[in-house]
Amino acid sequence: MRQQIAAANWKMNLTVTQAEELLNNLLQEPKKLLAHQTVIFAVPFPYLTLAKTKVNGHTNYFVAAQNCSNKKSGAYTGETSIEMLHSIGIEYVVLGHSERREYFAESNAVLAEKLDLALSYGLIPIFCCGEPLSIREAGTQNGFVEQQLKESLFHLSAEQLAKIVIAYEPIWAIGTGKTATAGQAQEMHQHLRAVLAAQYGKETADIVPILYGGSVKGSNAKEIFSKPDVDGGLVGGASLIAADFTQIIDALK
Ligand code: PGA
Repeated sequence: MRQQIAAANWKMNLTVTQAEELLNNLLQEPKKLLAHQTVIFAVPFPYLTLAKTKVNGHTNYFVAAQNCSNKKSGAYTGETSIEMLHSIGIEYVVLGHSERREYFAESNAVLAEKLDLALSYGLIPIFCCGEPLSIREAGTQNGFVEQQLKESLFHLSAEQLAKIVIAYEPIWAIGTGKTATAGQAQEMHQHLRAVLAAQYGKETADIVPILYGGSVKGSNAKEIFSKPDVDGGLVGGASLIAADFTQIIDALK
């Protein structure tokens, strides 16, 4: 079975005390995961080492950075390199979140560079894509998201592509409480898998986990995750509440 993933995206939230408390709540008696299930905490940079220590010894629990630089190293004040993340044992990195694209002007081309760096250091990118409301209202979301994939991913080999995780996050559903229906999520995920299959073949496309993100909660996760092409979720708000995130982990297939 394809990897099923519950990924917490804390964004720019929590003090260190709150972060530790949340991780303690989730990891004191962690949910036992099946071999194909994974839980990932995408935490702010200052808490990466703390989170690493906390997940240590818990099978299939991992830590992700929320971003990285598109430069390898050097005079880029304030940036964090993939090499640094690799050197502290971080396994995953979220790339291309819509907030990075919107507020920090990250282009598909810059994201392609970040993907290359991440893969060259053996980190697994969680590549985010998704359309704004205007595109959804115009009914052109399939082509829009397809373009994001083409411009950031299609230079990768099939072997490299098989290593990444994709997160489909319609921007109109992020932090708005307005979730895509399970049907809308499945429709897009199926489309994305078909786009990958056309470029890389069905076998490769079938390996890539595609997560849904956008107002996933304990109460709606089961229905969304039940769809055949939805392989879990990238969760913002609800990942900050231990009880809610536990329910989301429970909803994994
Ligand atoms: P949300 O955020 O769950 O708060 O909508 C999801 C995300 O941005 O990854």
